[in-house]
Amino acid sequence: MTFQPLAEIADIGRDRELGGWSRHLLDPADRALREWFVGRAQELGLQTEVDVNANIWAWWGEPGPDSVVTGSHLDSVPGGGAFDGPLGVVSALEAVGRLRSTGFVPRRPLAVVAMAEEEGSRFSVACLGSKLLSGALPAERALGLRDRDGFSLAETLDRAGLAPERAGRDPGALSRIGLFVELHVEQGRGLVELDSPVGLASNILGHGRWRVVFDGEGNHAGATRMQDRRDPMVAAAATVAAIPAVAMAHPGSRATVGRVRAVPGGTNVIASRVEVFLDARAEEDLLTRRLVHEITELAAARAAENGCSSRLVEDSWLPTVHFDPAVREGLADALAPGFGTVPVLPTGAGHDAGVLSEYVPTAMIFVRNPSGVSHAPAEWASAEDCWAGVDALTAVLTAHLAA
Ligand code: GLV
Ligand code: MN
Ligand code: MN
Ligand code: MN
Repeated sequence: MTFQPLAEIADIGRDRELGGWSRHLLDPADRALREWFVGRAQELGLQTEVDVNANIWAWWGEPGPDSVVTGSHLDSVPGGGAFDGPLGVVSALEAVGRLRSTGFVPRRPLAVVAMAEEEGSRFSVACLGSKLLSGALPAERALGLRDRDGFSLAETLDRAGLAPERAGRDPGALSRIGLFVELHVEQGRGLVELDSPVGLASNILGHGRWRVVFDGEGNHAGATRMQDRRDPMVAAAATVAAIPAVAMAHPGSRATVGRVRAVPGGTNVIASRVEVFLDARAEEDLLTRRLVHEITELAAARAAENGCSSRLVEDSWLPTVHFDPAVREGLADALAPGFGTVPVLPTGAGHDAGVLSEYVPTAMIFVRNPSGVSHAPAEWASAEDCWAGVDALTAVLTAHLAA
């Protein structure tokens, strides 16, 4: 059984080469999804607007202070699953549709939001839309970010008809949020083990993205003797191979290299530069910093052994988030009649809710994922559990909009 609201957008951004879906900020797939979202929201009678940071808002009632805001993101990782992001957006639309069809009259404004570039798949910074909106990332830094084809964020916004000079901290948009609730597919098997279709988030592991850049000497693959090389690929490979042992020495921490870029990237060319893209996470931010420091030292040693140099560049950082227990209690109370006591669990995945929790009351609802897999096509949630997620979100919205 498939969850019909997601089936409706399943053809948008399917990646025939990688499998799954590839939807990256303002690429054709993302634009098609954004258009779909605006159309669907307007069908429901909501007023849509795109803010200065490319986040889309769909309002029920006049935008104003103390609004209840719910939603997630539409973009994906390369070859990602169907649920990470869109589930929170389509569930929000479903919940609003239900409330409107029953003649419910909200006592506060409500908005469904689709945040821009949560995955950071195009510009390498996770939660770009919420970081810009909140000011967590200054626009001056963000606008110069470049995608794999060399286009800057400023150019990308401009081409989409958004004024890059207006991007950045948006106190007006932020001050309207009285409560932010993000529903998301769980990205592990916590709810399977707890035997519950839905749960509430306790905390998010602090995490960041770094590039370990190795510089060597570009040269000819055939004409350069092995002993004469300064090959940054060899230094990079030795570093990557040693990273799991470094992370395993710090229980609970995670370090991943899911992407490597060789420059210039020719089969018959010894690379002049290799960039190793590192994702590191831990519950304690000091531990994440220590892990990255140890990997930096490891890289320097392997670089030196190969006649190369290495340096570290930080691309993205989000400290550990502890969601406000009082806000979570409010959600738990709303869920109690339909769900009993819902489990509360942590997550290792980042979310716009994590960024926004620094600024506004924020909570997250998770939906069970029997595969435990995420950021890959095997990511899964049953239709029954997705509908339970819509029920949960509807209960939470009803309780908060009636107050
Ligand atoms: C986002 O899903 C992340 O945790 O990288
Ligand atoms: Mn994700
Ligand atoms: Mn997500
Ligand atoms: Mn313009």
